[in-house]
Amino acid sequence: MSRKYKIAVLPGDGIGKDVTDAAMKILDAVGFSEKAEYKWGDIGWEFWCKEGNPLPDRTIVLLEQSDCALFSAITSKPKDEAAKELVPELQDKGLVYFSPIVKLRQLFDLYINLRPCKAYSGNPINYRDDLDLVVFRENTEGLYVGIEWHPVPEVVMKTIIENHPKAKRFEGANLDDIAISTRIFTRKGVQRILKASMDYAKEYGYPTVTVVEKPNVIRETSGLMIREARKLVKKYEGIELWETNIDAMAMWLVKNPQNYGVLVASNMFGDIVSDLCAQLIGGLGFACSGNIGENFAVFEPTHGSAPKYAGMNKVNPIAQILAAKMMLDWLGEKEIAKKIDSAVAAVIAEGLVRTYDMKGSSTTSEMADAICEKIRTQD
Ligand code: NAI
Ligand code: MG
Repeated sequence: MSRKYKIAVLPGDGIGKDVTDAAMKILDAVGFSEKAEYKWGDIGWEFWCKEGNPLPDRTIVLLEQSDCALFSAITSKPKDEAAKELVPELQDKGLVYFSPIVKLRQLFDLYINLRPCKAYSGNPINYRDDLDLVVFRENTEGLYVGIEWHPVPEVVMKTIIENHPKAKRFEGANLDDIAISTRIFTRKGVQRILKASMDYAKEYGYPTVTVVEKPNVIRETSGLMIREARKLVKKYEGIELWETNIDAMAMWLVKNPQNYGVLVASNMFGDIVSDLCAQLIGGLGFACSGNIGENFAVFEPTHGSAPKYAGMNKVNPIAQILAAKMMLDWLGEKEIAKKIDSAVAAVIAEGLVRTYDMKGSSTTSEMADAICEKIRTQD
């Protein structure tokens, strides 16, 4: 046999541990664990409090030595609150809390945030049963790039006023009364997210790719995205490019979500649209995602650590299980990924095992066991 996959497993905090246990059972049942070497990594709140670093260097080294990571969720708190929870010997050292998942995305240039939102028939909390949406959100630039000012430095304000006629009306304003957040797109950034979305549409047979932007108003950044999309789509025979403004898209996704397939958007619009799509298919218990770069990827559920349910064996593990399934697809283990998908679909269709969010009373481990049982009986 070829070498084993090296998988970093990062359960993190709170319910992260509950749902990771569930996902590992599924990976065992489907036969993936025989082909994999798992290494468990430290991440999250515990390591912030004890070590002053929620993403210890040893975890980064572990990730560098892995093919990809299966992450779950971490607890985050605002800067000041976080500082107060440090152990006494780390207090007053000027340590500042940062989000380890945001850091991972930057560190490994994980520019794709992939969020498949497929409705499984029979899920009582589906908006409709016939939805199969896939959101590609650009994960490294745009409005979330973090280049912003308040108060605005004089040199920045002066440069803007001198270089843009529409900035004249801000001349003379008190710099402390203005805040600026920049929305930066690069041609390369735009091209690679568009290409990823179109490659995916081609591979999985989606007839349309919808670019969700606002080029009639945000002419230069959204405009760059649309212009590049029009060029690129010419290389994809049989895929139709749809251009829909973000505001209209919110309406269409409520009115006719079944008409859409692959959606692609910049960081903030993709963030918004992917939460909307996730809720159409049952919400946080079902929403999985992949942070994907050229050679590395981190798969995770969209939900957080839900501290009030931590260790209670209560939450829905399906989002984490589907994150593991996405990981298998990315590794090229399509057949066993498909088995997980069919088993999840069968358990949901049957409706005998449902966690509380699905209006049932089954536990996390009962859901995992039911999916494992389906995997075994499918063979
Ligand atoms: P959350 O996603 O942890 O939970 C919100 C609510 O959603 C829960 O109370 C629960 O009712 C429901 N929920 C979440 N996961 C579920 C599941 N698997 N099955 C059924 N119901 C589920 O968001 P919240 O409460 O805003 O944040 C809690 C902590 O998680 C915070 O510290 C926050 O910063 C962090 N967080 C971390 C994320 C990450 O690791 N990427 C993402 C979002 C929040
Ligand atoms: Mg997560």
